[in-house]
Parts: sequence; structure tokens; C-alpha cells
Amino acid sequence: MTAASDTPAQQRAAALRAQLNHHAHCYYVLDAPEVPDAEYDRLFAELQALEAAHPELLTADSPTQRVIGAVLPGLTPVQHVVPMLSITTETDTTEGGAIAFDARVRRELALAETDPPVEYAAELKFDGLAMSLRYEHGVLVQAATRGDGETGEDVTQNVRTIGQIPLRLRGDAPAVLEVRGEVYMRRDDFERLNERQREKGEKTFVNPRNTAAGAIRQLDPALVRQRPLCFYAYGLGEVQGWDIPATHAAMLDALATFGLPVNGDRVVAQGVRGLIDFHQAMAAKRDALPFDIDGIVYKVNSRALQQQLGFKTREPRWAVAHKYPAQEQVTTLLAIDIQVGRTGKLTPVARLEPVFVGGTTVSNATLHNLFEMRRKGVRAGDRVIVRRAGDVIPEVVGRVPGERAAYVPNFHMPRACPVCDSAAARERGGMDYRCTGGVFCPAQRKQALLHFAGRRAMDIEGLGDKLVEQLVDQGIVLSLPGLYKLGVAKLAALDRMAEKSAQNIVDALEKSKTPTLARFLFSLGIRQVGETTAKDLARHFGTLDKLMSASIEQLLEVPDVGPIVAASIHTFFAQPHNVEVVEQLLAASVQPKESEGEGDDRPRPLLGKTLVLTGTLPTLSRDEAQALIEAAGGKVSGSVSKKTSYVIAGEEAGSKLEKARTLGVTVLDEAGLRALLAG
Ligand code: IVH
Repeated sequence: MTAASDTPAQQRAAALRAQLNHHAHCYYVLDAPEVPDAEYDRLFAELQALEAAHPELLTADSPTQRVIGAVLPGLTPVQHVVPMLSITTETDTTEGGAIAFDARVRRELALAETDPPVEYAAELKFDGLAMSLRYEHGVLVQAATRGDGETGEDVTQNVRTIGQIPLRLRGDAPAVLEVRGEVYMRRDDFERLNERQREKGEKTFVNPRNTAAGAIRQLDPALVRQRPLCFYAYGLGEVQGWDIPATHAAMLDALATFGLPVNGDRVVAQGVRGLIDFHQAMAAKRDALPFDIDGIVYKVNSRALQQQLGFKTREPRWAVAHKYPAQEQVTTLLAIDIQVGRTGKLTPVARLEPVFVGGTTVSNATLHNLFEMRRKGVRAGDRVIVRRAGDVIPEVVGRVPGERAAYVPNFHMPRACPVCDSAAARERGGMDYRCTGGVFCPAQRKQALLHFAGRRAMDIEGLGDKLVEQLVDQGIVLSLPGLYKLGVAKLAALDRMAEKSAQNIVDALEKSKTPTLARFLFSLGIRQVGETTAKDLARHFGTLDKLMSASIEQLLEVPDVGPIVAASIHTFFAQPHNVEVVEQLLAASVQPKESEGEGDDRPRPLLGKTLVLTGTLPTLSRDEAQALIEAAGGKVSGSVSKKTSYVIAGEEAGSKLEKARTLGVTVLDEAGLRALLAG
């Protein structure tokens, strides 16, 4: 707020705060930054300097106050003016759960069967921890945990580190607005955090919820910073000076306009059918969400009806949590096996008493590595906790404390590969044991063949698990080039292989012989060379020869290739047996299409452009469209931001299209894309 009487310093500070808050909102809430980070940093530094020179200008809502504060001696209790209640849980995960809730509401409201359906709001039940944010005249003054519902703990300092939470509300804010919501950690942030812990040989965290809860109660805000947290608003506490909207849905919309993060996966439903549909739709989407949910919350939409329904001791009668199957379960660890990966990595795998977790039955789960397993202290026969969430492979996260019935010796990594008996060794300073057998090891060979044949590599249709298993076990294929020596007769002699299928595979092999250079490189399975790096390498070097003879220095010239990747590529091509594999593939008339290269002067009309694909295009598959865009010099990104040049939308385009429209990004159809490609 500036007035005519303000000094220039006051005015400048206010302007900087407004700009910084705006950019933080674009960055954290809209996921659409308008300025590069460096510009944000510049404004931030200017404000810091200004506040240092004029301490009287410092305000509690200043973005500079997000930065790390002092270590707290302990957390201070906070009395909640409006208690933080819990809600009734419906554990019947079938549609019966929704039906029972609707029936209760109708009974309490004394509705007859002939009366119209009740209007509900349905939203996700975020699996994090409840938080109350108190804004006075638009400024965040306090953040408190739920505690026992009456008394929580003051965690304001830590909550200030959550970039998504505005320190000042946008627009005309009420005198007092307590926002209730959930602090959570995204699954990818959680996985990254655990990956870092594993690399450091430190204790891993059990799940995102515990990690978030632990982080928020940390006394040292510097530690909180290393645990990226997020927030979604879902309700209100004390409110003064605000005409609360008449429905729950409208209230959430209003919170969003104040700049608070509100999740978009929510609906208003007339009656129970809509609730059931939403519960089912979100169950199907659950694995694809970036965060854990443990159910759906149904709320009577009208505030007037909510008031009429009131509370039953500690729980509102107008809301219910309709659960989903748990993502963590307890089961028995039957045995520990060793699995050999494509690069020879030996991974301890838990064989489990089958258990229904996160929506599927799990009978194997990873134990990551020996050291992590030791830290968790799990042994065969133990009762263990298994977690399966999202598309992450199931893992054993811990052991249920208790006596062991009998002595179980500690697990040791084998000295030899359990598949090929080659020596197993641990790299100096590394965590992982590896089989040293290379492609001599059938397990590695199988994985290498499957990777080579994969859809994103050489794309050899029909060459799946079962077939590769037979080809390797019967000693028919000893190396990648061996695939191209397969004939119909040899294939047809295999188990469950009809002449027709054998012919299809021979055809697929033939068809795979002209891959792009990028695909060819990716398919070789060079450590550290994923799809993107393979594309970068192909673009940079243009020919296989140039890449194979490149020095470390030359490799380091490729954008995004660092010392580890460069060393891995260099080592790969320094091995005579790898060079031999490449030569034999070429001799089998596999001819990677030597691509453009940097010096190439083919027209590249999309150079420097970023495109996002969404929905189904009429004739092009997603991969085809991506290939065409990349060949024209463009990049394909998975999410829409201000930096997106074009969004190419087909049938059933979803939220990306919406976002493009809000951000004013040009939206084209397939014909529009073709016009761009034609330059
Ligand atoms: S409403 C008076 N909505 O679930 C009703 N709660 O016992 C207050 N939760 O710990 C709760 N997502 O933190 C509500 N969309 C949502 C929620 C939600 C998660 C948590 C909440 C509380 C528990 C309910």
C-alpha cells in the first residue's frame, strides 16, 4: 500500500514486494513463471538491501521473510479459535460408502424420497498434515498445526518456506481469514529426497506424509528448506469481515482468487451418483497424480445446509472421508532374492506373502541395496511394511517391531552373480554390487535384449519377455547382433511360436534396421545414456563414427553432457567387445540414419521453439508428432508454461489446453502443426 506521503524508499519497497509476490504466485501456484529466476533474484536482492538500510520498512509479509530464520528452542502452543475437527471415515471403499453417507444426510435433513437430490462438493483427500493459516488484513501472521484440534503448535517460520503459500493475499482480503488445508510433499520430491539419502548412505524416509509432518515441526528452518513441501486449501477457520460464499465450491473458488493453492480435481455433484462417479474416476487417476491421496472427501455444498446439519461431537455431519485401499500394508517377508539388472546391478528383492496394497496385489518389493536393507534391519520371516504408490515400484519401507521367533542370520550379498556365477563386486565408494559378467551373464543379456528391442529403442514388435527368455536360455542369441540371424525356422521351433508369429518377428527385425541415430545409440544401453542424451549426442555428432571416436573433451561440448556421462560413453566405446557389437550390427545391415548434426543446413523451422502435445491427433501418434517436431529443430515439453511456443491439441485435450488458454499460448490442431513444419 502506498500513499502520497510515503517516502521514495517506502514506495520502492512496496513496489518490489508487490512484484516479488506476483512472481512467486506465477511460479509456485500457476507454475508459469513470467521472468527468469535471475530477475526474481535481482528484485529480491534490491528489496533486501533496501530493508537493511531502512529497518523500519520491514514488514511481516515481506518476501524476504521467507528466508531461513533462527533455530527455535521449541514449538509454542496455539489455541485454535475455531477447533480443527476431523471427519467421519467411511472405510467401505465400494460405492456403498457414498450411498451410506447420502442416506445419512437425507435422513438428518428429513428429506423424503421424492425430494430432489442433495448437492455435494467432492474433492481429494490429501494425505499430508492439516494446517491452519491465519491471515489478518491479508498478511500471513500465523501458521499452526492441528495438534489435538483445540491446541496446535506455531510453525509459522517453517510454513514461510513453502513457496506456494502466499505471505500476502491478493485482492481485497478480509480482516481475519483462517484458511485450513493440507501440507504435503509431492511423490517425485519424496523419491528424490530418498535417492539423495541413499546416495549418502543415510536413513531413508518412509512416506511423503511422515516426511512432511516431520519437516514442518523441525526447529531449524534451514532443514525444512531441504524438504520441499506444498499446500492445498480446503476449508475455513475463524473469519471476520468477509461474506463467506454460500457454497463450499464457491468458497474454494474465492480462496483461489486470494492466491491460495486450491486443487482442480473437484466437482459439484447432484446426489450420490456424481459422488460415486468422482470416486471411481479419481481411483483410476490416483497413480498418475503427483501426490498421495487416501480417499475422497464429500461435503454438503450449501453452507446453510451444513449449518442445519451441524456436528456430532467432534465431527461434522455434512462431510465424510470415503477411503481408497491403503498404499501401505503389513505382510511377511518370505525370503530375500537377488535380481540382476541390465547393467549388472544386484538388487536385493523381498519375496512377500502376497498383499493387496495401493490397489494391486504385490508379491515382490525392492529392498534397494544391502546397506539400506541393513539400516532397516529386515530379515527373512519378519513382518514388514510394504508401500506401493504411483508408478514407483513397490518397496519394503520398514519392519514391524517384534521378537523374531527364531534366529535368522544377517543377509550377505553373494560373492558371485546368482545367474552366471561371475564375480560380484562393489565399486570403490559405491553402494551397488554388480555382476562383472557383462553380456556373458544371461540375466544382463536378457535385459539388454529387451532394452534394445523396446518401443523407444529399436522398436522390434513381438520381441517380449517370454521370447527373450527362451532365446537366451536355449543359447540361441548370444549378443545383440545375434537377433538379426534369427530365421523363421529357428523361431518357429520355439515353444508356443506359430509359423505366422515367427514370420512377424522376422519382419519386425527387418523393419527395425533403419533406426534414427538417436534410437540406435539409446538401444545400445550405454550407462548414463537415456533417450534425451542419445538425441543430444546424435544431433551434436551427426554420425556414429564421429561419436565413437570422440574424446572426453569433445563429448563435454555436447549440451547437458557432464563429466560422468562423458566418461561413461568414452569407456563404453573404448571396450573392444562393445565396438565389435556395433560393427556386427552394421554388418547385419542395421543402418542408423545419420542425422542432421550441428553443421547441417536443412531447414529447421521450429528451432528454439517449445511445443506441448495434448489429446489425440487425427493421424499422427504422439511419438510421430514428437519426431517431426524434433526433426524440425523444436523441443517437446510435457507441461505448459509461459515459455511454451505452441500447444498442439487433439481430441479430448485436457488441462494443458485449459492452461494454454489462460496463459494466452497459441493453440493449434494437427493441420496447424503441419503448416509449422512446412515452415
Ligand atoms: S475437511 C470439518 N477436506 O483429512 C472438516 N479434510 O479428518 C475438516 N484432509 O486431518 C476436514 N484432505 O487434514 C477436509 N479435502 C479435504 C481434506 C481433508 C485431507 C485431512 C484433514 C484432516 C483429515 C480429516
